[in-house]
Amino acid sequence: MQKRKLGNSGLEVSAIGLGCMGLSYGYGPATDTKEAIALIRTAFERGVTLFDSAEAYGPYKNEELLGEALAPIRDKVVIATKFGFDFDQKGGQSGMNSRPEHIRQVAVAALKRLKTDVIDLFYQHRVDPNVPIEDVAGTVKDLIREGKVKHFGLSEAGVQTIRRAHAVQPVTALQSEYSLWWREPEQEILPTLEELGIGFVPFSPLGKGFLTGAISETTTFDSTDFRNVVPRFTPQARKANQGLVDLLGEIAARKKRTSAQIALAWLLAQKPWIVPIPGTTKLHRLEENVGAATVELTPDDLRSINDAVSKITVQGDRYPPHLQARVGR
Ligand SMILES: NC(=O)c1ccc[n+]([C@@H]2O[C@H](COP(=O)([O-])OP(=O)(O)OC[C@H]3O[C@@H](n4cnc5c(N)ncnc54)[C@H](OP(=O)(O)O)[C@@H]3O)[C@@H](O)[C@H]2O)c1
Repeated sequence: MQKRKLGNSGLEVSAIGLGCMGLSYGYGPATDTKEAIALIRTAFERGVTLFDSAEAYGPYKNEELLGEALAPIRDKVVIATKFGFDFDQKGGQSGMNSRPEHIRQVAVAALKRLKTDVIDLFYQHRVDPNVPIEDVAGTVKDLIREGKVKHFGLSEAGVQTIRRAHAVQPVTALQSEYSLWWREPEQEILPTLEELGIGFVPFSPLGKGFLTGAISETTTFDSTDFRNVVPRFTPQARKANQGLVDLLGEIAARKKRTSAQIALAWLLAQKPWIVPIPGTTKLHRLEENVGAATVELTPDDLRSINDAVSKITVQGDRYPPHLQARVGR
C-alpha cells in the first residue's frame, strides 16, 4: 500500500490504517482473541502499518491484544494509543484525567500492555477542561525526551487547543471524526492543520458502519453496542439518512467499487496528509477497506460526490449530549 506522511513530523504510515477499537470494545462483544490476532496480522500483510488503540478500549484489553498481535512485527509498525480517562471498577469511564502524573502512569502501563519500549503516537483522547493543555503537551514532551513516546497527538480538540499544544510540543496528528456524514472539520480544523503541518487521522471514516450500506433502519445492535445511544443511529435517523447511503451506492456501482471503498477514497482525496483508520472485525471487510487505497476519484467524481452530498441534510447528532460536551474543546 502507498504510504503517507502525517504532517511535517516525518511519521510515515500506510495510507489506510486499522482502527482496532471494535475488536475489543464499543460494537458488541469482543472478537475471539485468536481471530483478532489473525486479523491484525493479515492487515500488516496487506500493507497496513498504522494500528490504532486506546487505554479506554476495554479498558486495557485492546492494548493487550495489540501487544500480542504486533510483537513479532513490532519494529515494522506504528502503534498509536491514547490516554485521558479514569475508570471505575467495572471498567466504565468515571471521568477525564489528563493530569501530568496520570499521563505518566498511563504511558508506563501502556508500554507494558503493548509489549514495547516506545509508543509511536500518544494521543490525548479528549481535552480535559481541568488541566491546561500546556501541561499535557509538556508532559508528553518529557515522555518523548525520555524515549517512552515518539509522537504527540490530540483527539477531538478545537483549534485554539491545537495551537496552544503545538506551541509547547509539536503535534504530529489530530484524530477526530470525519467522513461523508460528518464534515465539520472542513470549516476550521483542516485549514489549521494545514497551516501548522499537522496530519489528520479521521476516525469512524465509514460512519460507524452506516455509510457502507450494511446497516438499515431495521438493523438491531447488541445491547453493549455504543450505537444504541447515538442519536444518528435511532431507527428514525437511519431511515432519514438512507438517501446518503443510496447515493454512495450509486456512485460505487458506477466506479465498480463498494460504498465503503468510495467513502474511504473520498477521505484520501481531500488531503495527502489524511490517513483514515476504518475498523472491522472481519477479514473480507479488511480486504475491501484496504482496497480503497487503489480507488482513483477524478476531479469530476469528487465534484459529483460533493454536489450530491451537499443536497442531503444528515439527521441526528453524532453523540448523546453528555459525550457531545467533550468534543471540540
Ligand atoms: N479518537 C476517538 O475518540 C475515536 C472514536 C471512535 C473511534 N476511534 C478509532 O477509529 C476507528 C474506526 O472508527 P469506528 O470503528 O468507530 O468506525 P468505522 O471505521 O467508521 O466503522 C466501523 C464499523 O463498520 C463496520 N464495517 C467496517 N468495514 C466495513 C465494510 N467494508 N462493510 C460493511 N461494514 C463495515 C464494522 O463492522 P464489522 O466489525 O462487523 O466489520 C464496524 O461496525 C476505531 O477502531 C478506533 O480505533 C477513535
